[in-house]
Amino acid sequence: MKKESKIIAQMFDQIAFRYDMLNHLLSFGLDKKWREITVKEMNLKSKERVLDLATGTGDLAFLASKISPDSFIVGVDISTEMLKIAKKKIRKQNRSLSFQILASDALSLAFKDNSFDKVMIAFGIRNIGYIKGSFREFYRVLKPKGLLTILEFSLPFYSWIRYPYHIYMSYILPFFGGIISRNREAYSYFSQSVNSFYKPYEIENLIKRSGLVIIKSKPLHLGICHLYISVKK
Ligand SMILES: C[S@@+](CC[C@H](N)C(=O)[O-])C[C@H]1O[C@@H](n2cnc3c(N)ncnc32)[C@H](O)[C@@H]1O
Repeated sequence: MKKESKIIAQMFDQIAFRYDMLNHLLSFGLDKKWREITVKEMNLKSKERVLDLATGTGDLAFLASKISPDSFIVGVDISTEMLKIAKKKIRKQNRSLSFQILASDALSLAFKDNSFDKVMIAFGIRNIGYIKGSFREFYRVLKPKGLLTILEFSLPFYSWIRYPYHIYMSYILPFFGGIISRNREAYSYFSQSVNSFYKPYEIENLIKRSGLVIIKSKPLHLGICHLYISVKK
């Protein structure tokens, strides 16, 4: 599956106005739970520098800033429309947040080596065209002993759920996602990209090959999602 940054950015630009609503609706609210588990597992500490890659509308970064208000968080994405929504949400908060937004490709980050204590990415890695290159960047910007946390969809491991899941992902989700976002292609892309994405053991191998050490790799909700936490030694 070809994933050019420019085309992916255009697709997210087009669905940005409905992205949050459809996320919560089509995952039956589970997306919030998955992000909560992710941020909890990251064990954020005071005054840490945190990079949220493929931040989109910023939901993961907002959660992180809630749990660790004095951390400095940077959210990076290639879709300017997704970032506009994140910025609107920042303005709506009635407390000051140390959450900054930057339009940038995860494959060529404008940050110095060893500049973040934590790097996180939720539902973003699947959309990045050159995954090995992205791991190289994640490793580069992480400080020694820094944590990389990846949350991504995977396929359910029990056979009894695979068939209904396939029907939901291949027909029901693209249908409703298409009507509500007025972009059926984007929601068909979503299903196809989940189906054709690396399996958890393959992601683990990529993480290890990038020089990071895995400290946690666990399926969430019957394997629909997977959380990977690794450390830069
Ligand atoms: C499914 S959304 C996830 C957004 C958010 N992290 C969340 O939890 O809802 C995927 C995001 O990845 C971004 N993205 C895709 N490729 C990227 C790249 N190469 N660099 C930075 N962001 C990228 C898209 O623009 C989109 O906003």
